[in-house]
Amino acid sequence: MCTIWVKTEQYVRFLQDNPQEVELLFKELLIGVTSFFRDPEAFELLKKTIVLDILKNNENERAVRVWIPGCSTGEEAYSIAIIFSECLSKLRLKGDFKVQIFATDIDKAAIDKARQGLYPANIAADLSPERLEHFFSKEDNKYQINKDIREMVVFAPHNVTMDPPFTRLDLISCRNLLIYLTAELQKKLMALFHYSLMPDGILFLGTSETIGRFIDQFSTVDTKWKIYQRRHSEQTAADTVDFAHFYREAIPAGELALNKLLNWSPSPRWLIVCSLRTSLLLPYSSTNRVTSYTYTAEQGNISNRLPARPI
Ligand SMILES: C[S@@+](CC[C@H](N)C(=O)[O-])C[C@H]1O[C@@H](n2cnc3c(N)ncnc32)[C@H](O)[C@@H]1O
Repeated sequence: MCTIWVKTEQYVRFLQDNPQEVELLFKELLIGVTSFFRDPEAFELLKKTIVLDILKNNENERAVRVWIPGCSTGEEAYSIAIIFSECLSKLRLKGDFKVQIFATDIDKAAIDKARQGLYPANIAADLSPERLEHFFSKEDNKYQINKDIREMVVFAPHNVTMDPPFTRLDLISCRNLLIYLTAELQKKLMALFHYSLMPDGILFLGTSETIGRFIDQFSTVDTKWKIYQRRHSEQTAADTVDFAHFYREAIPAGELALNKLLNWSPSPRWLIVCSLRTSLLLPYSSTNRVTSYTYTAEQGNISNRLPARPI
């Protein structure tokens, strides 16, 4: 291997002249290291104390929503889907119970790999023989995740610091992503996760990550494995979320069904409906229905009033 030393200014110039180098640098910085059941003890605890409870508590709704930001190539998302599948079997709830897992990452190439669900033979080191046998099929020298598990997960490119969040979640697993962000961004994400979770929702972080100063918003379920529960409180951290940063440029209103728009709503009080030219703020009811279509709120182009996006 040969190392060439260059001055920072020279490298910046090189970046300016070579867009493909910018792409490479971006990829280097993302650090997509991951594995199935990373920290096996943490996943065992999640299964035994959290997932079983989530399923029992949602027996009437027969639906559960999970978000995994920074999912990399899918191993974490499939691990969680496997746990849910095992618990559904244990509780004899398989069939009409819908577990929706949204797994997102800023790295589009990682998301493409995750969607394929095809992994090298060495994943056998991270999975028990029973799980390998039950949830994968062997193809040549690779393991393909089974259709049942694959269909529980929706993968999508998404920048957790800028794109609109998922909402009404029972569980957020955001592991080994916060450590790469500045303290300021970590704070923003904590407020965002509080807003995105259901009242009793669970936040599962990586072993080197914490909720920081958000102790009023989350109680600790397990200190070692960084499992937290959103606190019951009338006051939501929504007020501290800088929603402008999670605003997506333009959602053509006509192309999205209303229930999809409700999912994108960046505030519990207002639904933003945007077209390329205008943006409307409509009153939004927490019971998942728009209470009125009359434009009682502001009308105009919201994007003009938004602060510049962070990098
Ligand atoms: C170290 S990996 C962690 C993967 C997995 N969560 C785990 O614990 O095994 C960090 C992942 O975060 C993703 N990431 C970094 N910044 C992100 C952002 N702003 N939005 C979404 N994903 C991001 C990277 O692309 C990478 O795949």
